[in-house]
Amino acid sequence: MAFIAVPRRLSRLALAVVLCLATIYFFRTKLDEVSDGGKAWGRSWGDGYVRSSFNWANRLQTHPIPETNRTSLPQGVPRVLPRIQHQFSELELDAAHNKTQQQRRDAVRRTATKCWESYRQFAWGRDELSPLTQTGADTFAGWGATAFDSLDTLWIMGLTKEFKQAVRLVAAVDWDRTTSGHCSLFETTIRYLGGLLAAYDLSYEKVLFGKALELGDMLYAAFDTPSHMPANDFRFGKAKQGGLVADRRESLATVGSLSLEFTRLSQLTGDPKYYSVIDHIKLALEQSQDDTNLPGMWPTWLDLQHGFHASDTSFTLGASADSAYEYLSKTYALLGGLDQTYEKMHLKAMATARDHVLFRPMLPDAYPAALPDILFSGTVLSNGRIIELLPEVQHLGCFAGGMFALGGRLFKQDGDVKIGEQLARGCAWAYDAFPTGVMPEVTEVLPCQRKPINDDENRDADDPLAHCAWNQSRWGDDTTSPKPFSNVRDPQYLLRPEAIESIFVLYRITGKKDLLDVAWRMFQAVTAATETEHAHAAITDVQVTGTTGKTNSMESFWIAETLKYFYLIFSDPDLISLDDYVFNTEAHPLRIPKPPPPTGAKES
Ligand SMILES: *[C@@H]1O[C@H](CO)[C@@H](O)[C@H](O)[C@H]1NC(C)=O
Ligand SMILES: *[C@@H]1O[C@H](CO)[C@@H](O)[C@H](O)[C@H]1NC(C)=O
Ligand SMILES: *[C@@H]1O[C@H](CO)[C@@H](O)[C@H](O)[C@H]1NC(C)=O
Repeated sequence: MAFIAVPRRLSRLALAVVLCLATIYFFRTKLDEVSDGGKAWGRSWGDGYVRSSFNWANRLQTHPIPETNRTSLPQGVPRVLPRIQHQFSELELDAAHNKTQQQRRDAVRRTATKCWESYRQFAWGRDELSPLTQTGADTFAGWGATAFDSLDTLWIMGLTKEFKQAVRLVAAVDWDRTTSGHCSLFETTIRYLGGLLAAYDLSYEKVLFGKALELGDMLYAAFDTPSHMPANDFRFGKAKQGGLVADRRESLATVGSLSLEFTRLSQLTGDPKYYSVIDHIKLALEQSQDDTNLPGMWPTWLDLQHGFHASDTSFTLGASADSAYEYLSKTYALLGGLDQTYEKMHLKAMATARDHVLFRPMLPDAYPAALPDILFSGTVLSNGRIIELLPEVQHLGCFAGGMFALGGRLFKQDGDVKIGEQLARGCAWAYDAFPTGVMPEVTEVLPCQRKPINDDENRDADDPLAHCAWNQSRWGDDTTSPKPFSNVRDPQYLLRPEAIESIFVLYRITGKKDLLDVAWRMFQAVTAATETEHAHAAITDVQVTGTTGKTNSMESFWIAETLKYFYLIFSDPDLISLDDYVFNTEAHPLRIPKPPPPTGAKES
């Protein structure tokens, strides 16, 4: 609702009465809506709750989606989805999760505790701890990103006291008090909203739901644009007045990575409006999927200002695209399998990625045993006729192993589970290849040369992912990087989670025990390279060992994601089972609604 100018003559008393009535009216309407969804939330969100000073739920849309185009959550009983996790037997678990895993788990928890305590001591309420100066930094609008992002990790690790501290802090956050005039819709959704929803799904702390609802109502305003596509640059002033416009150059990841959080919000509130706006994005994705320059995938950059235009030429599963692909299968699961559009889009996108974006690296013959069976995910330039693979390997792209494997299980594509494992092991292998035991942010690898896929007949004949022999003349004699990494483009490690994320998912899916040792090797390498006196810090160059080269940064995903995945892989596989939760792209587990037990079955 745009601000209405108040005539000066109106007495203060009258104004106060009007505002008061309006507040009561809207507050009641909101709670009624919520209870209409069948949820009795009560009228107070609990101890320590501080209501935000602007009530976004009251805002009227300037550009509402036409009534006839609005959709609700798919109706029906959630389907029984195929089993995702490996069926671990008691024997297997005893052998795998003996004292060793417990010690590893404790080591991860000690690391998390150390970082959390330093955040509390030096940066409480700020977005991040700056680990070299022991100060705080506000990088995500200043609401305390690390506290929101850490809630569910603290819960999962059984750090009850610390969890309660965090709950008290976030309960009092006023979304209208920020250190910045704008925030990123994407980052705010995945870190803050995802963090609140997951922590609520785990703990049922009412106040977390209250804050999630306030924030959801705020972020809903990002969709109030002429094209109904979201504006990622969420300017608070403009948003209040309905003046936001979607960008002419917006990343695919931004539009494609809102579906889990907004779906969960509709499921929990019973209010379809959050779902309706992301369903509108789904339709645009569906309609454009076959008409891009690389049919089956969408370009990394989109023009959303006048609708949804996907005519750009760069395609990847990595930076700025990644989680849009990740969310297709996960949204399908969260919707209880009731919307097959997500399945279709996932399968098409994975097929295209397999044909064009994934590649096998050319490996030196010097391996003592058999050549490792690994794949990487690159970037493709395509104008619709010429398709060129850029064999860059991004740490961000390492999530793809988990994505292929999860989708493979969900949609019964055994080949995709195998590809998922090859990708996950590729990143783990790249960790081992560098002196610190950690892989860099971006590097290049020499790919096996792919035979072009011209038509469907050639598809089976030429396996684009076949092995190849080392060719020294392609490598050249003056390259100094560790083979086969031909060019380390960005040597930093920023405490990122994607590699351990995929190893974790593959362990839960395949039950292969050696992945536990892979994870432990990664944990030791990462912590050794990044540890500071009070916490952990990003490093400038994974090619250099020793204690130099640290950056004054510990992003909130270190506790939210990296340490959570390390902790979970060493824990009992029933803890946050992949059959019960989908992880958002910030590793926040959202609960999958389950079909009711068959009638006659006993409650257990
Ligand atoms: C609404 O739906 C109709 C029919 O499916 C479609 O032609 C139209 O473009 C949609 N409008 C918007 C704003 O999405
Ligand atoms: C415990 O687990 C470790 C690592 O998986 C393994 O190496 C070791 O043999 C196991 N010990 C027993 C007694 O099963
Ligand atoms: C090795 O690479 C060189 C240079 O790219 C190429 O000319 C040659 O054909 C390759 N050899 C083999 C056996 O593929």
